[in-house]
Amino acid sequence: MSKLSLFLCLIFFHSVSSISALELQNLKPEFHNPRIPKSTLSSSKKFEGSSDLVNLRYHMGPVLSSPINTYIIWYGKWLPSQKLIIKDFLLSISSSTNHRTSPFPSISQWWKTASLYSDQTNSNVSSTVLIAGEYVDSKYSQGKHLTRLTIQHVIGNAVKTAPFPVDHKNGIYLILTSDDVTMQDFCRAVCGFHYFTFPSIVGYTLPYAWVGNSGKQCAEVCAYPFAVPGYMAGGGPSALKPPNGDVGIDGMISVIGHELAELSSNPLINAWYAGEDPTAPTEIGDLCEGLYGTGGGGGYIGQVMKDRVGRSFNLYGRRGRKFLVQWIWSPVLQACAGPNALDLKP
Ligand SMILES: *[C@@H]1O[C@H](CO)[C@@H](O)[C@H](O)[C@H]1NC(C)=O
Repeated sequence: MSKLSLFLCLIFFHSVSSISALELQNLKPEFHNPRIPKSTLSSSKKFEGSSDLVNLRYHMGPVLSSPINTYIIWYGKWLPSQKLIIKDFLLSISSSTNHRTSPFPSISQWWKTASLYSDQTNSNVSSTVLIAGEYVDSKYSQGKHLTRLTIQHVIGNAVKTAPFPVDHKNGIYLILTSDDVTMQDFCRAVCGFHYFTFPSIVGYTLPYAWVGNSGKQCAEVCAYPFAVPGYMAGGGPSALKPPNGDVGIDGMISVIGHELAELSSNPLINAWYAGEDPTAPTEIGDLCEGLYGTGGGGGYIGQVMKDRVGRSFNLYGRRGRKFLVQWIWSPVLQACAGPNALDLKP
């Protein structure tokens, strides 16, 4: 090929593809597997992806098999830019809307592990996750401290407010609280949780998940590994740079991924979990906390990528977004899994 035709060819390639030069460069990222001691929350769990200790079982209940209609409740003060990062993550999950636009390894490929879970009707967790509605509770209707009980009133208010519907067939409710909202057990025992609403409060049994912005409360616990406990400062391993430049929001992304995977495979706490105690089930996200790539465990987070400005991520999303999302337990491999596994090149 002559220099001129190569040049024309490059121009042609550039104009037909939507991939910018910057993104192309980012497709050849650097790899690293940093060693960062686990956050205090996950270090209490002794699994680290070892199948010997895991007895994940199916308890006969349904999984979320119809297209999952997500209703977001923005509680407190949210910047449009923060909402956009979270919505881009959610909209990156569906293979139908996103598969062709995100490069490997993508968020929708990551969700394939969740879709391996099925129920006694042979229905699998849906590969379609949609944003069906949004509700803004910027006036803190239940105050700046929430509990597992008052959060149900937040959902109740939202579903009673038209046009936010009661979608008791395919709906899940995702309550996201801003960094000035505290929650019962937040930081001490949980970074997020999922459960279902009580008909006495909300009118229906609706699966929901809550995730809070830990940025100003306990980033070293809930926005791991973008923040590390203070005692490790100086000489110890340092925190990773968040892919979207926001420690609190980038930290929420992995927790939202964790809760969505669990909500979908165990929406009524009677489908997929390990352990004998349904009041403290160990679910498909819990089993893989702190693992983001091959070679994780023992303090290593696993092989992840670093972009040109040193921000760490393991998955691509829509519109050129990058995210760092923990792996989830695969019932097929009997191990934690993600599409960025080193033995899984496309
Ligand atoms: C559905 O679940 C079954 C059983 O877990 C699995 O073998 C199959 O691959 C899943 N299908 C999809 C499309 O993921």
